[in-house]
Amino acid sequence: METEAYIEEDRQPQVGAARLASEHRDPAERNNLTWHEMKLHRLQRAEQKLQRPCVLWFTGLSGAGKSTVANLVEQRLFEHGRHTYLLDGDNVRHGLNKDLGFSDDHRVENIRRVSEVANLMADAGLITLVSFISPFRSERRMARELLGAEVFIEVYVDAPLALCEARDPKGIYKLARAGKIRNFTGIDSDYEIPERADIVLDSAAQDPARLADQVMNHLKRWEYI
Ligand code: ADX
Repeated sequence: METEAYIEEDRQPQVGAARLASEHRDPAERNNLTWHEMKLHRLQRAEQKLQRPCVLWFTGLSGAGKSTVANLVEQRLFEHGRHTYLLDGDNVRHGLNKDLGFSDDHRVENIRRVSEVANLMADAGLITLVSFISPFRSERRMARELLGAEVFIEVYVDAPLALCEARDPKGIYKLARAGKIRNFTGIDSDYEIPERADIVLDSAAQDPARLADQVMNHLKRWEYI
């Protein structure tokens, strides 16, 4: 029987330069992990599905319409025989990310995890839709860098705060204004508007079906579908 010997170096007393060198190493390396090369690659999985994977990353305020439009786009892709998956902030926060709240640090971790999951899904050959407020530019940039500019498509669902608040589909703005929810995006937590989104959806001027058309047209124009 094969046994693997893991060196528990973190439990060894380390001093000076050795300790610093260890702390600055990649955590995977520090934990004695190696990367396994897979026999099948992203391209083969995608080819089998006859599609070009991408990640449609919907960002915008709560109530802007991200999930509504993402759902419509997913349905249309499904009807076209595409293989898809939709990652939605509210749903992922019920499972994988149920340990996270809404402080800046937790939002950063929320987006880091969902970027990694989206990357795995793209690797599996899926057209992936991500619908998260994802309020910070730096994390959206991180997602773009992780996924690659060919794969990552930033979709800014643009709606003014006043409109989102008037819609208030979950009654959540009312609670935030009453001080019952802290760190609410757009009220006492920042939302950084994308500077160069690949697609800007004007959710104040167009209905969700037209916005879904706009996304589908982008996918056709750039030959994702
Ligand atoms: S993100 O900022 O970390 O990307 P995410 O998209 O996962 O947010 O979750 C947003 C959803 O959580 C909102 O649609 C809303 O229903 C709910 N929510 C609860 N508390 C807050 C809050 N403080 N700020 C924003 N959304 C909140």
